[in-house]
Amino acid sequence: MRVIIKDNPIEISHEAADIIVKQINNYHGSVLGFATGASPVETYKRIIERYEKGEVSLKYITTFNLDEYVGLSRENVNSYFYFMKDNLFGKTDVDFNRVNFLSGEATDLEAECKRYYDRIRECGGIDIQLLGIGTNGHIGFNEPGDKFADGPFAVKLTQSTIDSNKKYFEAVGDTMPEYALTMGIGDIMRARKIILIATGESKAKAVKELVEGQVSPSCPATILQMHADVTIFLDKAAASLLGEKK
Ligand code: F6R
Repeated sequence: MRVIIKDNPIEISHEAADIIVKQINNYHGSVLGFATGASPVETYKRIIERYEKGEVSLKYITTFNLDEYVGLSRENVNSYFYFMKDNLFGKTDVDFNRVNFLSGEATDLEAECKRYYDRIRECGGIDIQLLGIGTNGHIGFNEPGDKFADGPFAVKLTQSTIDSNKKYFEAVGDTMPEYALTMGIGDIMRARKIILIATGESKAKAVKELVEGQVSPSCPATILQMHADVTIFLDKAAASLLGEKK
């Protein structure tokens, strides 16, 4: 696990975008796993800037996103599909035929999860998976629990996750869904390379557990210690508890 500490989120975004752009330029048909939320937004902006300068084309990449809220359509401003369209896909030449998402509107959630699991395999697996981390140590929506999930599944979100994200729904007068579909830990761990971005003091405890804690499903991100190629980008606030005794 490589831990890289930068002064601020902008510096992180340049480095993270650079890894992704290099991957795409090495192989235009790369399979990329994307995350939503605040953590990757600056990185997406850097990728868009490089696309606009003609330094990279996203036309032939295949994408998989980590998760989606159950019950939300792609047109809902709080759906993660909408987020990706707004923050990356719609501002580049991404081919929407190669964009893969768990469908929040699926009637048979189990079948939808199986479809996604199979689709990742059919596409040859994920080259780079980008991640954020929840204040409770979740990755994707793999919430703290007593086992690691392998493939995609439907999850009841914890209060901590609802508290962190409900502001986006309240802003448009909506209530946050209690359930989501998410890639499992197995899907994330099978990615050939993983980049995790964490910034701000609110992430410091989860980051300490991720880097220094025992591998345990009670902090799902700790499993990343077992992956051969993980880069963790932190700002100083998120890294502030590293090295300190508990
Ligand atoms: C989002 C996701 C989540 C977020 C995490 C951090 O697709 O899977 O695990 O990465 O909740 O969210 P932010 O970045 O908003 O702090």
